[in-house]
Amino acid sequence: MFARSALRSSLASSSRLFSTSTPRQTKVAVLGAGGGIGQPLSLLLKTDPLVSSLSLYDIRGAPGVAADVSHVDTPSEVKGYAADQLDQALDGVQVVVIPAGVPRKPGMTRDDLFNTNASIVRDLASAVGRVAPTAHILVISNPVNSTVPIVASTLSKLGAFDPNRVFGVTTLDVVRASRFLSLVTGSTPAECDVPVIGGHSGATIVPLLSQTNLGKSLVGSGETYGQLVHRIQFGGDEVVKAKDGAGSATLSMAYAGAKFANALLRGLNGEKDVVTPTFVKSPLYESQGVDFFSSLVELGPKGVEKIHPVGPLAPEEEKLLEACLPELKKNIEKGKAFVA
Ligand code: NAD
Ligand code: LMR
Repeated sequence: MFARSALRSSLASSSRLFSTSTPRQTKVAVLGAGGGIGQPLSLLLKTDPLVSSLSLYDIRGAPGVAADVSHVDTPSEVKGYAADQLDQALDGVQVVVIPAGVPRKPGMTRDDLFNTNASIVRDLASAVGRVAPTAHILVISNPVNSTVPIVASTLSKLGAFDPNRVFGVTTLDVVRASRFLSLVTGSTPAECDVPVIGGHSGATIVPLLSQTNLGKSLVGSGETYGQLVHRIQFGGDEVVKAKDGAGSATLSMAYAGAKFANALLRGLNGEKDVVTPTFVKSPLYESQGVDFFSSLVELGPKGVEKIHPVGPLAPEEEKLLEACLPELKKNIEKGKAFVA
């Protein structure tokens, strides 16, 4: 039998999910904790040694999820909050993760979720701006290309927007790129870290395989390269189709969300060189009207420490970026217009 301490340390350190340096800990809220992503994400956050307290909120089911997750034998406290307890759920939190909102069904684009999810995200962001104005906000709800500008504009109206503290979680694209490249090259995902830039939907997802040791020889290789890029850009559709009306990626997304949250927490704790792609307010393509963009971002005690330039691109990647920018611009403008 697996000893409890061994299990705990294996959960904390054997996967690529969590690593930790210093022990300062943080109160984290999950808004949408009763959902397909929210439940496994709450579980994974309960096993993160950098989380001291978890506040689980949903319009339905969060107290039950909290009671369940609270039995896991890690030191963090867990509390669940009902629909009318949003302010209490946000009290004193330093990090807020938002997976609230409806997922896609086959045949839908992420933008088709806008009508439902835009107001959910706006209202949650507004509560964060009021109750926990210095919190870091991690946006998972789709369409991320629009919901992040919605959060930023909502906070701006309240005078509470700090561009260093609002993040669109694009980690699932990075996780997929790593896994899919490993399958093509017969290597391990750990050897296949792929920077993925742009946004989080179809053509706005731009993997930079030329910047990886194992992927660079594939760039321009014709069918293999084209299929790999397509799989990274449309991996979400694979899951939506396979779930056949029951939703979109939840488990891999929970993994990706917990992984990004851990990276942020390590940065907040002063760990150096925590660098990962995330969709933030960015100067990189502002001159082309794209003022939110995902690129490699260094995370530090204040959140965003440094936005890295995209680096050298292969001609094929220049083309992907050309296709990305106009679509991303439209998505961002739609989000801003909703709040204005
Ligand atoms: P789900 O329907 O299983 O869960 C959503 C949860 O949100 C439900 O429990 C619902 O009660 C809750 N909710 C609705 N309105 C709320 C509100 N106002 N306040 C608090 N909670 C509220 O959906 P899911 O599969 O967990 O997906 C959630 C969202 O995440 C979707 O928009 C989906 O498209 C998106 N998503 C994003 C990524 C990404 O990479 N960023 C990946 C997968 C899914
Ligand atoms: C994903 O990439 O899996 C998510 O954005 C969910 C979706 O709608 O595909």
